[in-house]
Amino acid sequence: MVNILVSDAMSEEGLAPLLNADNVNVVQTNASEVDDLSQFDALLVRSQTKVDAQLIDKMTNLKIIARAGVGVDNIDIDAATSHGIVVINAPDGNTISTAEHTFAMIASLVRNIPQATSSIKAGNWKRSAFQGRELNNKTLGIVGMGRIGSEIAKRAKAFNMKVKAFDPFLAKQRAEKMGIESVSLEEILETCDIITVHTPLTKQTRGLINNDNLATTKKGVFLVNCARGGIIDESALANYLDKGHVAGVALDVFEVEPPEAHPLLAYEQVIATPHIAASTKEAQLNVATQVAEEVLHFFEGKPAQSS
Ligand code: MLT
Repeated sequence: MVNILVSDAMSEEGLAPLLNADNVNVVQTNASEVDDLSQFDALLVRSQTKVDAQLIDKMTNLKIIARAGVGVDNIDIDAATSHGIVVINAPDGNTISTAEHTFAMIASLVRNIPQATSSIKAGNWKRSAFQGRELNNKTLGIVGMGRIGSEIAKRAKAFNMKVKAFDPFLAKQRAEKMGIESVSLEEILETCDIITVHTPLTKQTRGLINNDNLATTKKGVFLVNCARGGIIDESALANYLDKGHVAGVALDVFEVEPPEAHPLLAYEQVIATPHIAASTKEAQLNVATQVAEEVLHFFEGKPAQSS
């Protein structure tokens, strides 16, 4: 019998390959609620469960950790590796949802839609208070041109935006084919009207946009982070909002989640969502199905795939 712990909420339909399999026992509850974690052979998580060395130490029979999503930054990969535990993810199941949410945030940001909604619901009718900006002819800077960045570029082109992208792995030819420009991070910062980040969070990308290089951005720039909290330094954002240099910020992610009484949330020019870019019925079905099938393959002795 293979014992599987699903520690974060996941699509029931997506988990069907595991729930319907013979000789597989699936327990759906948070790891913190389980007394004997040594009974489990597999652990399935989204981003809420922090799979740190302490948790891994308690799961003495664990063979595989599956992340129903892209980022594996909530998993201590070194600790898993040192215990011989395989880590897999679902690299593309939520690409479209995340790109659509990012684009919705960009459009909401430049048109003040969340602020105007709150205002009208409070009984106001302030038409002149919410004058926005067009996306037409503006330059969007995309930092990180993986799956999600590429989908955002397509949507930006449909809005007649110019697109500049920075990614060390972006070939000039591919950029040309997409009708976008491959440029340096410096050029993105200096020339773009709206900048959105789509890199993983690593030692190299933490604080990629920070107090020093924000100074080189255009006055009135809009910044968007629907990737991982910390890629754009939060205190630097507050600093440049205070200076009136940054016109607006859209955040789906935070350095610490949940952010609770976060200073950035007090700014009228900051719009935010609670890490829901990938939270659609479609994406959650995709990622849960992807990891459920992979875990099943793993216990059948077939090779696991990852990003
Ligand atoms: C991801 O890494 O896939 C997203 O942030 C979505 C999530 O955390 O569920």
